[in-house]
Amino acid sequence: MEDFIAGLPKCELHLHIEGTLEPELAFELAARNGLELPYGSVAELRAAYSFDSLPSFLRVYYEGMRVLRTEPDFYDLAMAYLSRAAAQNVRHAEIFFDPQAHTGRGVPFDVVIRGLRRAVMDAGARLGVRAQLIMCFLRDYQAEYAMATLLESLPYKEWIVGVGLDSDEKGNPPAKFADVYARARQEGYLLTMHCDVDQDGAIEHIRQAVEDIRVDRLDHGVNLLEDQRLVELVLERGIGLTCCPISNGHVTGSMQAEGIRKLMDLGVRVTVNSDDPAYFGGYVQENLIALQEALQLTAEELAGLERNAFEIAWLPRAVKDAYLAEVDVHLSSTEL
Ligand code: ADE
Ligand code: ZN
Repeated sequence: MEDFIAGLPKCELHLHIEGTLEPELAFELAARNGLELPYGSVAELRAAYSFDSLPSFLRVYYEGMRVLRTEPDFYDLAMAYLSRAAAQNVRHAEIFFDPQAHTGRGVPFDVVIRGLRRAVMDAGARLGVRAQLIMCFLRDYQAEYAMATLLESLPYKEWIVGVGLDSDEKGNPPAKFADVYARARQEGYLLTMHCDVDQDGAIEHIRQAVEDIRVDRLDHGVNLLEDQRLVELVLERGIGLTCCPISNGHVTGSMQAEGIRKLMDLGVRVTVNSDDPAYFGGYVQENLIALQEALQLTAEELAGLERNAFEIAWLPRAVKDAYLAEVDVHLSSTEL
């Protein structure tokens, strides 16, 4: 089964590029930029990658990314991720980035996006991995700041496929960003947002995202199960969920495997993704393996998860169809 998963053509839809910062690269970038890390070794830093809630994770995540300063830093970060992704047979990745976490510390938007874009182009040409960028707003800051970031992104619109919303959800509902999302849609961006697992008001946040803001996708969103009417709405609209089992384990104490199973059985377009793999200790392949072990998924079911992902990816129909055909070839050429 592990060989089947390794060879399965994959589509990653929930991946924060800043969450792919491995301790080795953090040390390298710190040295390059003349910064001191408050850790004596890679092992010590890795040991500090430990959390039991969304806020405790976010503290470590924002502290870690301070080593990212220059265009080559962002290029190296994204290239390191895309090389790993290629090795796991990821064929397409839609990558979140958090511009405000960088512009807020004096790194220009242009520096961030040029480094990421150059890696996306090189990975496409050299590694055969397709990728596109999703710009996230930090929901624990004011909506006006998100709007200013949206306006700042407009000259780079061709390099950004959509917008997302992340960071600390407590007290920061989707409704706070209704105007920002309306403008983003007007500008041609596709829309997704985090509805993190078991946060205060989770099901009301999902309702706002689906009914009021009318997102194209939901990130996490497992609490959808609490409202049958919303399940039906999500089914009717074909909205996909980007679930992250290993991340769930760290943030909520459970991979939410049973919830994911129920969503699959209801026909919701569930996908399996890695969120912040350097911090949570698992890229997409490890997430698929963990879920397969928890639910005893069959090869057909695993292929179904990747079909869902290519289906809800923000790609032209013909491109999706080519990837879906690759999944079918892998399934039919495997005997388990
Ligand atoms: N930023 C990076 N990863 C995140 C997550 N899983 N939830 C909210 N904000 C995030
Ligand atoms: Zn996330």
